[in-house]
Amino acid sequence: MQAKNPKDSLTTLTDIVLPGETNPLNNLFGGELLARMDRACSIAAQRHCRRITVTASVNHVAFSKAVPVGSVVTVEAKVSRAFRSSMEIYVDVWIEDRETGESTKVNEGIYTFVAVDRTGSPVKVPQLIPETDLEKERFKGALRRKQLSLLVSGKMKPDDATELKALFGN
Ligand SMILES: CC(C)(COP(=O)(O)OP(=O)(O)OC[C@H]1O[C@@H](n2cnc3c(N)ncnc32)[C@H](O)[C@@H]1OP(=O)(O)O)[C@@H](O)C(=O)NCCC(=O)NCCS
Repeated sequence: MQAKNPKDSLTTLTDIVLPGETNPLNNLFGGELLARMDRACSIAAQRHCRRITVTASVNHVAFSKAVPVGSVVTVEAKVSRAFRSSMEIYVDVWIEDRETGESTKVNEGIYTFVAVDRTGSPVKVPQLIPETDLEKERFKGALRRKQLSLLVSGKMKPDDATELKALFGN
């Protein structure tokens, strides 16, 4: 199976925030943004492995800045590391200034997708070779984040989380 680069999975979704998608403060509703992020990550995962992919876990989301109604929101997702059947996807969210066109990062998330066959059983995915400094940094931290996610969901014993233990010097 031929290895891929993060750019092979790059997925960019741009859309506007409509009034029906906001909270009482007229800012984008969190669940609506999560749905947009999940869609972009799903496409990125499929582009990496060319298989059916399902969301296994939302590992991290930070709503750093509110997104006002009328904003043009761009969601950019890329695979940051591939394991056996699972892939970590990093998703960055930007809004653009109406007049200057300047982009501001407002949010980021980390999702885990799993490639499956038609019966829903996990299947192998191609490995990922990071290229840029940021891609290399995200690749390096991905095993630690995978172990943390498995630990929190009760799918891994603390003793087996070697990468996490190394972080604390054990
Ligand atoms: C995701 C799913 C396929 C995993 O199936 P499973 O029987 O747990 O299979 P496995 O234990 O072999 O795990 C498969 C991979 O997922 C990873 N994984 C499973 N749960 C995980 C979690 N919470 N965090 C990170 N990785 C996880 C495993 O580590 C494994 O990775 P690897 O093959 O790269 O080493 C299965 O739980 C599923 O179908 N879930 C529903 C998915 C869905 O419908 N999503 C949409 C939500 S509405």
